[in-house]
Amino acid sequence: MKIGVTGVASSKFGELWSVSPRALVKYVAERALAESGLEPTDIDAFYVGNMLSGILGGQENLGSLFAEEIGTTAPAFKIEGACASGGLAIHNAILGILSGQYKKVLVVGVEKMTDHKPEEVTVALMGAGSEAERIAGLTFPGLYSLIAREYMDKYKISEKELAAVAVKNHYHGSLNPNAQFQNPITIEKVLESPCVADPLKLLDCSPISDGASAVVLTAESLVSKKQNPIWITGSAAATDSLGLYNRKSLTSLAATQAAAKTAYQQAGIQPNDIDVAEVHDCFTIAELLALEDLGFYKKGTSGKAVLGGELTLNSSKKIAVNTSGGLKACGHPVGATGVKQVVEIVEQLRGNLGKRQVKNANVGLTHNVGGSGAVAVVHILSQEH
Ligand code: COA
Repeated sequence: MKIGVTGVASSKFGELWSVSPRALVKYVAERALAESGLEPTDIDAFYVGNMLSGILGGQENLGSLFAEEIGTTAPAFKIEGACASGGLAIHNAILGILSGQYKKVLVVGVEKMTDHKPEEVTVALMGAGSEAERIAGLTFPGLYSLIAREYMDKYKISEKELAAVAVKNHYHGSLNPNAQFQNPITIEKVLESPCVADPLKLLDCSPISDGASAVVLTAESLVSKKQNPIWITGSAAATDSLGLYNRKSLTSLAATQAAAKTAYQQAGIQPNDIDVAEVHDCFTIAELLALEDLGFYKKGTSGKAVLGGELTLNSSKKIAVNTSGGLKACGHPVGATGVKQVVEIVEQLRGNLGKRQVKNANVGLTHNVGGSGAVAVVHILSQEH
C-alpha cells in the first residue's frame, strides 16, 4: 500500500474559547489543502473524525456542515469511533482511495470540549464505555486506574514509572508551540498532584481540550515530487470488547496488538524499524501498554525504559515516542487526536520540527485508541517511496 500524504496542518490544542468548530476546521483544511496545491473544489471526498459534537453540542451531520464551510460539494462522511475517531477517519479515507473511487481526499479531526462543564464532558466520554460500566459509575480515569493497578501488581512497578511518561511527554510538549501544556514537570510534581482515580493523579491524565488537525491524502498515481510527499505504507484497525470485564487480560490491549500486526505486515517491517512514534497516552499507563503491545518492549519492561530516558527525544537509544507531547501534554481533543498524530509523524519524516526533530527519522508509526481499548488504529508512514 502506498498513499501519499501531500498536506498537513494542525491548530493549537488547548482551551480555545473564542474559536468555533467551523473556524477550527476551516483553518486546518485551508492550510493542508494549500500545502497540497489543491483548492477545496479539487477534492473527491471529505472525511471528518469527531466523537462528541452530537452529545455535547447537539450538532450532527458534520460532513455536510464542514463541507459547506470549506467550500466543497464532494461526498462527506463523519466517522465516529470514540477517541480513535481521527485515526478511523484516516483509515476510511485510505480505503476510499484504495477502492479506486477517490484520488484526492481531505481528512479533518476536530473536537470542541472546553465549552462544556467537566462533568458533562466526563459523562459524554463514557458514551465510549459499556452500559454496565456507566451504571457502575465508572469514568475513563476510573477504567484506566483499574488497568494501572492490575499492571502495577503484575509487573511490580511503582507510580514513578507511570509519572516518567508524563515527565517525558511534558518535556516534548515544551518544545511544541501547538501544545496545550508547554511546562516541563518533574516526577515529584506528578506524584504530588491531586489524585483523580488512584493510582492515577492529575498529571497522569490527558486534559480536556479543543483542537483540529487535517491531512490531505492522494492516490500514488497523482502524487507529484513537488508536493514533498510522505507515504502511508500500513493502515489497520481492530476492535475488542467495549467493557473491561470481558477482556482476557487487563495488561494489554488486544485491539492494539491485532491492528499493529496487520499494519507491520502491510508495510513489510518490524517494530524495531520504527524511528519515531505517536502512541495513545490518554493516561500514563496507556503509553506503557502501547509500547509493549506495539512490540517495542517486552511485557512489563517499558516503564523502566521510559524512566531511564530511552524514549525521550534524541536521548533515545531506541525510538522517540510522543514528540508532540502526546495526548498528555499536547492535549486530547478526542476526534482530532488520531489526525494530529499523523501530522506530527509527517512533519518528523519531512525533517521540519526544529528543536523537537528526531535525527534520521525515516519510518514512523501512529497508534490511536478508542474507549479503554475497544478500538485501535495503527498507521505506518515512511519517507521512502
Ligand atoms: N494535566 C495537567 N494539568 C491539568 C490537567 C491535566 N490533565 N487537567 C487540568 N489541568 C490543570 C488546569 O490547567 C488547571 O490549571 P490552573 O489552575 O493553573 O488553571 C487545573 O489543572 C485545574 O483544571 P480543571 O479544569 O479544574 O481540572 P478538572 O479537575 O476539571 O479536570 C481531569 C482534570 C484530569 C479530571 C480532566 O482533565 C479529565 O477528565 N481528563 C481525562 C479526559 C479523558 O478521560 N479523556 C478521554 C481519555 S480515554
